[in-house]
Amino acid sequence: MSELGRRCLLSMIGASLVVGAGQSGNAAALSAVRKESREPYEDKVGALLARMTLEEKLGQLQHLAWAFDSNPGSGSTTEVERAARAGRVGSVQSIFGAKATNALQRLAVEESRLGIPLLFSLDIIHGFWTTFPIPLAQASSFDPDVPRSDAQVSAAEARSNGVHWTFAPMMDVTHEPRWGRIAEGNGEDPYLTARFAAAKVKGYQGSNLASKATLAACAKHFVAYGGAEGGRDYNTVDVSESRLRNLYLPPFKAALDAGAATVMASFNTISGIPAHGNPHTLTDILKKEWAFGGVVISDWAGVQELIVHGFAEDGADAARLALNAGVDMEMVEGNLLTNGAALLRAGKITQQRIDDAVARVLRLKYSLGLFDDPYVEESTAIPGPTSAARAAARTAASRSMVLLKNDRDVLPLARSVGSVALVGPFADSTDLLGTWAVPAAAERFPAVRILDAVRKAAPAADVRHARGVDPEGEDTDGIEEAVAAAQSCDVTVVVVGEPATMSGEAAARSDLSLPGAQEKLIAAVARTGKPFVVVLVNGRPLTMGDWLDSAPAVLEAWHPGIEGGNAIADVLFGTVTPGGKLPVSFPRAVGQIPIHYNHESTGRPYKADDKFTSKYLDLPPTPQFPFGHGLTYTTFALGAPEADRTDITAAALHAGDSIEVTVPLCNTGSRTGDEVVQLYVHDVAAGIAQPVRRLRGFQRVTLAAGAATTVRFRLGAEDLGFWTNAPKGEFRIEPGRFDLYVGTSSAADSRLNVSIT
Ligand code: BGC
Repeated sequence: MSELGRRCLLSMIGASLVVGAGQSGNAAALSAVRKESREPYEDKVGALLARMTLEEKLGQLQHLAWAFDSNPGSGSTTEVERAARAGRVGSVQSIFGAKATNALQRLAVEESRLGIPLLFSLDIIHGFWTTFPIPLAQASSFDPDVPRSDAQVSAAEARSNGVHWTFAPMMDVTHEPRWGRIAEGNGEDPYLTARFAAAKVKGYQGSNLASKATLAACAKHFVAYGGAEGGRDYNTVDVSESRLRNLYLPPFKAALDAGAATVMASFNTISGIPAHGNPHTLTDILKKEWAFGGVVISDWAGVQELIVHGFAEDGADAARLALNAGVDMEMVEGNLLTNGAALLRAGKITQQRIDDAVARVLRLKYSLGLFDDPYVEESTAIPGPTSAARAAARTAASRSMVLLKNDRDVLPLARSVGSVALVGPFADSTDLLGTWAVPAAAERFPAVRILDAVRKAAPAADVRHARGVDPEGEDTDGIEEAVAAAQSCDVTVVVVGEPATMSGEAAARSDLSLPGAQEKLIAAVARTGKPFVVVLVNGRPLTMGDWLDSAPAVLEAWHPGIEGGNAIADVLFGTVTPGGKLPVSFPRAVGQIPIHYNHESTGRPYKADDKFTSKYLDLPPTPQFPFGHGLTYTTFALGAPEADRTDITAAALHAGDSIEVTVPLCNTGSRTGDEVVQLYVHDVAAGIAQPVRRLRGFQRVTLAAGAATTVRFRLGAEDLGFWTNAPKGEFRIEPGRFDLYVGTSSAADSRLNVSIT
């Protein structure tokens, strides 16, 4: 350790840093604000409802799909145009462009009987023009400002192009790396996901949806979609009430407390009841317990699929079940529109429920200011990524990278390096955007290639490129050229991973290793005996073969978005010190799945020398890399954590009191860097077996070499209590001992105890 480091360790007291007390705090205040903000429109909503025919009401509950930026009259969208004129559609998706949206809006506003404006929506999951890193990558930043900046940039770009509503953020916690949609969420932890969901909602919605630089957010998919058995998309989820409430629901609660205007139902069943027909989740929890006043939209054909689930007899039955369960708006299929009147006549649905659903849609339109000004200014539509947006995407991408391994400090590379071989199928590729890039954005604004960025970052270096192998396919002919490049250069960067099409919706994999012959490429480079670095670009955790031992350094860059090349070069050359942490465990082998840090304790936890404990005979008990793992280019030391009190009453916690935990941190290395300090809680004995650890606080701290600080956390009711399996769930704080762990990954071993009396 340097002299600076020694001094820093001795001081260990520096300035203190305030760390959020979780997202619990002002939930009540926020929902009060939500209620108040609805009030100005209530009279108008009521007056409009009174003028609407049943058909016009059902029309508002219909959501149709467009053909992206095509204009009305192009031929492909005649049905939607007709519906707009007739008042038989409330909302249209996959449409953007100031001209196209204004033209379609004119049909609804000027030609339909009541002139009710349309809502325009689009899946803007990690960027509109400016594609940010995928959400799983963003979660690795452990910095809620990252999703916030993505959301703010997306909102300004999309709204100026006529879009009002995005189907994001996705907040499906999952323990399934096989599931392709893991790329769209924030990983395996409900607390991290909740913090990110709230930040993203606030980024999209700002403080005023009518501002013309904001988007209505959609908390999706409600709920437990990430529990899909076997990781196969759309698959069954059988979940207890306690797990539903402790694992899957918290991010939704946080998103709604942050003001999310809408919610989307999920494709899965929840303990046998499809989510689109589930009154317990959609009405009892969401609309009654949480008093959600916004719109619940179905997922694509999700109402129709109630028939395929074997839950509804036909379209009419599906419409009845969905509306009565709490779905307000039907995406694409017209079961409610077609059958609503007959269902009402037969007394199978009520006028009150229809009016409630329509009021929710109208309220959203009022809050977006659409009745005052339904159009956008065509001359000020943002035409593409601005330099500020690109800078935000570059920062987001570099903050999202995770240094998994760095033996002998191979990284960072010196800018003065003489020669670099850049090999692998993604080294000179634009396939870095990730799963939900808006198609027109991917076409017009492709990602910066790593090869170009490295040449720019080290202009004096001789940079040689060889593709080596394709992303998929077994052809190894190109490996020889890659090996020759590696042999002739001072250092090699091997860029391998998954094409974007391998993650996202309907992209489950049963084998999580690098596809095709990519591992063979790494092995061949390793055999040269020269130093090399592996950069991974992928949309999910991968299993790593023997190549992991042979690679001196591994940087997880995920699908990093439009500025991917530049951000990777920033980290490779040390302009940015990596500080991200894994938001999900990386398994050693597919057979270990599910493997996640927040598992419950068994009666026979793993013991190496005891056969009759919970384990596989042929694998160590731990993942390859645990949740929360990530290295930096400097070194940090954490001091012993302390709590301001060692016991507290449950009553005090319920009344809002909390425990403060502090821990000294110092940068003992020789360069500025980031550390993510993490606080985990374990309730030692409880009425329901508890996770061995639950993340309840994190803080990403930047410290100069030799600098020290004290990181502070607050633990309140939400952090120490849990939901039981009582028929409708019950939140409880049970007396007893709690272990608290503070560290720099979920394997943290710095422990202290507190008690609740
Ligand atoms: C996806 C949703 C998406 C919707 C609309 C569905 O297939 O599950 O996440 O928002 O399509 O495009």
